[in-house]
Amino acid sequence: MGFLSILSFAHKLIEERVTPGETVIDATAGNGVDTVFLAKCVGPQGTVHAFDIQEQALLLTEQRLAKEIPGCTSVQLHLNSHALLKEILTEAARGTVGAVMFNLGYLPGADQHTITKPESTLPALQAALDMLRVGGILTIALYTGHEGGGHEAEAVHEWLGQLSQKQYQVLEYRFLNRSNNPPYLIAVEKRQTS
Ligand SMILES: C[S@@+](CC[C@H](N)C(=O)[O-])C[C@H]1O[C@@H](n2cnc3c(N)ncnc32)[C@H](O)[C@@H]1O
Repeated sequence: MGFLSILSFAHKLIEERVTPGETVIDATAGNGVDTVFLAKCVGPQGTVHAFDIQEQALLLTEQRLAKEIPGCTSVQLHLNSHALLKEILTEAARGTVGAVMFNLGYLPGADQHTITKPESTLPALQAALDMLRVGGILTIALYTGHEGGGHEAEAVHEWLGQLSQKQYQVLEYRFLNRSNNPPYLIAVEKRQTS
């Protein structure tokens, strides 16, 4: 049977926590797999905010949504950096969001130089945690195989290391004997607000 892939494991953790009608965020829409998954989790009464800095990514996401959830109106696509997450969702969303997904790196099949970078990833991760409700979850898929990926992963781990254990539970899900720098998953659950 084998273990779940890192993406399936992220989906499982989110499914177990998110309820229909909630607000959730896909911080890196890419080709839309996670956006569609999140839209199915929250249903027609919920809201998904999906961010990407590449128009091509949002087009792919739009097409996937139209195919998999025809007539879907619960997704708001933002052609913006996730570094603007706080400004776009506004203070009113603080402490209300059920899940935030980050899938770092580059868009498969597109320009490999357009990658997520620590200077925007770290403020966005912090904003994401502030947005989470108690019991909500942040997932981060990390890739170290491309140039800049290792540096970004180090910065993310440094940021994770300063999170209060009273406030957050942090998990790593990783295949240890797989070759070629396999991606791995970090999940952060909010246990209490402060
Ligand atoms: C690995 S892909 C995401 C895959 C996606 N989750 C999926 O299900 O297909 C990473 C995406 O992050 C996007 N990205 C890079 N920097 C970003 C930023 N500052 N804000 C939002 N998205 C960004 C890239 O354009 C790329 O589409």
